[in-house]
Amino acid sequence: MDDDWIDLGSADTLAARSLQRHRAGHLEIALTCTNGQFGAIHNNCNHVGGPLGEGTLDGDYVVCPWHQWKFHRVTGIGEPGFEADRVPSYPVKVEAGRVLVNVKSGTARHRAPHKPHPLARPILRAEGPVRVAGISTTAMDPKAPRYSGSDDLLASSLAAAAEQGCETRLIKLNDLKFRSCEGYYSKAARACTWPCSVTQMDPKDELDAIYEALVHWADVIILSTPIRWGQASALYFRMAERLNCIQNQVTTHNRVMIRNKVAAFIIVGGQDNVQGVAGQLLGFFAELGFHFPQFPYIAHSRGWSAEDMENNVRDVRDSKDLHDGAAELARRSIELSERLLRTIPPEHLERGGRKAHAERKRSG
Ligand code: FES
Repeated sequence: MDDDWIDLGSADTLAARSLQRHRAGHLEIALTCTNGQFGAIHNNCNHVGGPLGEGTLDGDYVVCPWHQWKFHRVTGIGEPGFEADRVPSYPVKVEAGRVLVNVKSGTARHRAPHKPHPLARPILRAEGPVRVAGISTTAMDPKAPRYSGSDDLLASSLAAAAEQGCETRLIKLNDLKFRSCEGYYSKAARACTWPCSVTQMDPKDELDAIYEALVHWADVIILSTPIRWGQASALYFRMAERLNCIQNQVTTHNRVMIRNKVAAFIIVGGQDNVQGVAGQLLGFFAELGFHFPQFPYIAHSRGWSAEDMENNVRDVRDSKDLHDGAAELARRSIELSERLLRTIPPEHLERGGRKAHAERKRSG
């Protein structure tokens, strides 16, 4: 047998699976079989290296399991519209009941530029006054909205910011339709991309408003949450999981996307655990790279024994102290932001004890 051909195994056995990942000498390939016709393309997807052999077949196209790019199972050419994109393909033949592949005669890989998502643009702060984004995370029926203490205090913070000459923007998570995080990080660290894999795949997903504010537009984030069973709201956690793609850039590329930005919080609950909620919020936003003003949250709770929510609502709505506190929180955050904006963040941030994925690979 010609040395260039590698024996992959019995044709009958290999034909039993329409798509499989297979080793061929030093290469990993995606081996397909449709109606007895075999095809072999390189296992690594052109996007960020997803394992094509672990994907699915859509007609004659192999669908990458990470973000669903498609390549022809025999030619390796991208799906219609992306024909300039191709992964290597290899000649396959069946002889004496054995499947043989020639990995030395593969076609070349070619990566054609895909139109970048608008969020993928460089992170450059535009000139102008401090920009403050309020993020409301309370859920309610938009057709019959009720009073929300956390929203009301957030409105006071944003009003104070506007009085200071800041640009302000209010984003209500409840108004956005967005998918839950689908755990791309659990497939592989680099499968969780920036912009978020879901955002890039699903034009109907509306969490880009949050990404735009956090990464590009805002200097200050003020996030408000009710306390639900001792935790921040479920909507907050759905958003937080989707923000993994920002933190993951630090892990995979040593790229700190949040620089010189400030976060502060408003926490309102009928019952207690204010400090537990604050601890979670502070820990998470610290992982993203935010700075915090002194006394980075305000909160209200009437305690475990208070079962009368109507009084809680009245207390927040009518409390001058709390609304003044929300305004002061905004002012402290803006003051810190102004100081940070006068500094140039270091090009590279050392994070002792936590090596980026890429560095770990380099150092073996
Ligand atoms: S589509 Fe294949 S790695 Fe993203």
